[in-house]
Amino acid sequence: MIDFAGRTAFVTGGANGIGIGLVRALLAEGCKVAMADIRQDSIDQALKTLDNQMVMGVQVDVSSRDAMERAADAVEAKFGSVSLLFNNAGINLFQPIEDSSYSDWDWVMGVNLHGPINGVMTFVPRMINAGNGGYIVNTASMAGWLAAGSPGIYNTTKFAVRGMSESLRYSLAPHGIGVSILCPGLVKSYIYASDDVRPKALLAGAKPIDTENVKRLAEFHEFGMEPDVIAARVLDGMRDNRAYIFSHPEFQEELAELFNEYLADFRDYPNDPGYEKRTGFEAFRRERYKEARAAARKAT
Ligand SMILES: NC(=O)c1ccc[n+]([C@@H]2O[C@H](COP(=O)([O-])OP(=O)(O)OC[C@H]3O[C@@H](n4cnc5c(N)ncnc54)[C@H](O)[C@@H]3O)[C@@H](O)[C@H]2O)c1
Repeated sequence: MIDFAGRTAFVTGGANGIGIGLVRALLAEGCKVAMADIRQDSIDQALKTLDNQMVMGVQVDVSSRDAMERAADAVEAKFGSVSLLFNNAGINLFQPIEDSSYSDWDWVMGVNLHGPINGVMTFVPRMINAGNGGYIVNTASMAGWLAAGSPGIYNTTKFAVRGMSESLRYSLAPHGIGVSILCPGLVKSYIYASDDVRPKALLAGAKPIDTENVKRLAEFHEFGMEPDVIAARVLDGMRDNRAYIFSHPEFQEELAELFNEYLADFRDYPNDPGYEKRTGFEAFRRERYKEARAAARKAT
């Protein structure tokens, strides 16, 4: 089981929403915590409420590889090797793909997918080198399972975060590093204000901000789950080394419904000429995958 006390944690998007919940929960476990966020004002505000020597703020844009390396150096110089990584920063853009521009793609993919990729590329080699095991939690979403016509780019990134994280879960197990994928439903958070942190360089082709919709979203997010509740469930999931941390139990039935609909798309075709050999190979692969899943559960 992962031990928390004394470890250094790096939480992206740490100054608001789920991130600040994680920061509080990790501090309570005796971790040293880096609150990494693009919003300096939110970092300053959050630090004031925490009033704790074991937390530091670090301003970083997760979509920048260089900025992530610099942030990692600054944190490790103060708090030592990072062995708990939370790739949590994210933004949303509520529109369908056909109404989107390349700058919309670059922004959302940059933060929601390249952010976690940069976190992994920055910290995994350091974690392996330090040889002290550790844990990575990547924040996807129930929108990483349930797609609708909008928000298409967001769905794309969250499905991709799942794929990357599942693969990492198996490759990092031999290093004693656990990987979980957090899939929240609605959160009481600040994500409705994402447009505020959109870089000026990625405004080309952006639709004008629909302030009425932002207002509606703000009201809607008030009913979201409290970040502290989610954070407690994340730590619980890490202790169990669960592949998926489903913070919102109300989605269980819908996911089962969805998988049954997928399974209903299979057809009982007659065997094609390569069937016997191919399925022989697949049986071998299936067994290896099953073993990898079992091994990953015992990684920490
Ligand atoms: N809000 C929801 O209902 C919901 C549901 C499912 C999943 N999620 C996911 O949870 C994660 C956390 O979001 P939240 O809901 O707590 O939102 P939030 O806006 O309250 O917090 C996200 C934080 O990320 C920061 N951020 C944005 N762009 C950044 C960048 N380029 N670099 C560094 N930091 C950046 C923001 O400043 C903010 O402090 C996201 O990945 C989001 O997609 C949210």
